[in-house]
Amino acid sequence: MVKYVVTGSTGGLGSQVFKYLLKLVPASDIIVSLYNPAGATPAIKDSGVEIHRGDYGDPASLDAAFAGADKLLIVSYPSIAHELRVAHHKNAIDAAKRAGIKHVYYTSLAFAGDSVAAVMQAHIDTERYLKESGLTYTILREGIYSESYPLYFGFWDPKEGVDEVIVPHSDGGIAWVCREDLGEGTAKIMVEGGYENETRLLSGSKTYTLKELAALASRLLGRDIKLIVGTEDDYVRRNVGKHGPRGEEEFLRKWATTYKALARGELDVVDPLLQKVLGRDLKPFEETLKESLGLASGVGSIVEQYAK
Ligand SMILES: NC(=O)c1ccc[n+]([C@@H]2O[C@H](COP(=O)([O-])OP(=O)(O)OC[C@H]3O[C@@H](n4cnc5c(N)ncnc54)[C@H](OP(=O)(O)O)[C@@H]3O)[C@@H](O)[C@H]2O)c1
Repeated sequence: MVKYVVTGSTGGLGSQVFKYLLKLVPASDIIVSLYNPAGATPAIKDSGVEIHRGDYGDPASLDAAFAGADKLLIVSYPSIAHELRVAHHKNAIDAAKRAGIKHVYYTSLAFAGDSVAAVMQAHIDTERYLKESGLTYTILREGIYSESYPLYFGFWDPKEGVDEVIVPHSDGGIAWVCREDLGEGTAKIMVEGGYENETRLLSGSKTYTLKELAALASRLLGRDIKLIVGTEDDYVRRNVGKHGPRGEEEFLRKWATTYKALARGELDVVDPLLQKVLGRDLKPFEETLKESLGLASGVGSIVEQYAK
């Protein structure tokens, strides 16, 4: 019997990992480590799994949550604040060691290992720390979520009525992939084993540039959405003052480095692994885009979720 402990199960990716893990192993083999146990979803509460509080900022809580488990999934901390993020990940890795975890899975991101994107730097530091920890690990560089396309598409919101999208520096291909496919693939990899001490990319099966995204959105909405690759200042001017962190100049200039990574083709990489693990075609990007464009709430919520 292998006992699994999973983090982030209330989140977009972790909830999918949890859903598929529960299909693959008995509930009695799963521990859910939650930042906020009071916020456990009905899917978690009704499943019969063991639930513990596990806050990346509180090592003692992680010791209690990880105790008795063999395999641990560390879902990366949702923030672009570099030092805090790395510190949280280190806490989880150190706790895994103390708990005698036999295999750690870490959800990294799809940018290159020598990325110039600010958002990837905490993952690079965490990957290094995990590799040097002496633990058996699998680093899963999770592909760019199809659902998160507004982050890359100039924070464009179809409901705002401005159909000129400004991005800085460069366009580039992205192998978009939906969170459900990533979650299912991650759960399968954890259960099936293998990939020991490997760093693997889970990507979509096709890349789309932002210009191609604009053409798809134009077709789906029946209006002309235009992509403009402008200067960083143009991009900052367009977004500064908007609600939340995406309206802050410091955040915008940091996020602008993403487009320097696009220029290097960092996300323009298709790896067949996820399709192989799932044994089926992946959900096409167009489908998720169509669903997102139809959201009654607009894209505001996805931007609020990640731009922090
Ligand atoms: N591949 C991509 O395109 C992409 C895009 C955006 C983000 N990401 C990264 O991938 C991760 C997973 O994405 P997601 O969609 O699942 O994010 P998400 O929906 O924001 O979920 C984040 C999870 O982390 C938990 N959490 C928050 N603070 C914590 C703490 N101090 N200790 C332990 N857990 C904590 C949250 O718990 P609560 O619900 O209780 O707050 C939630 O379960 C993100 O955290 C981010 O690092 C990847």
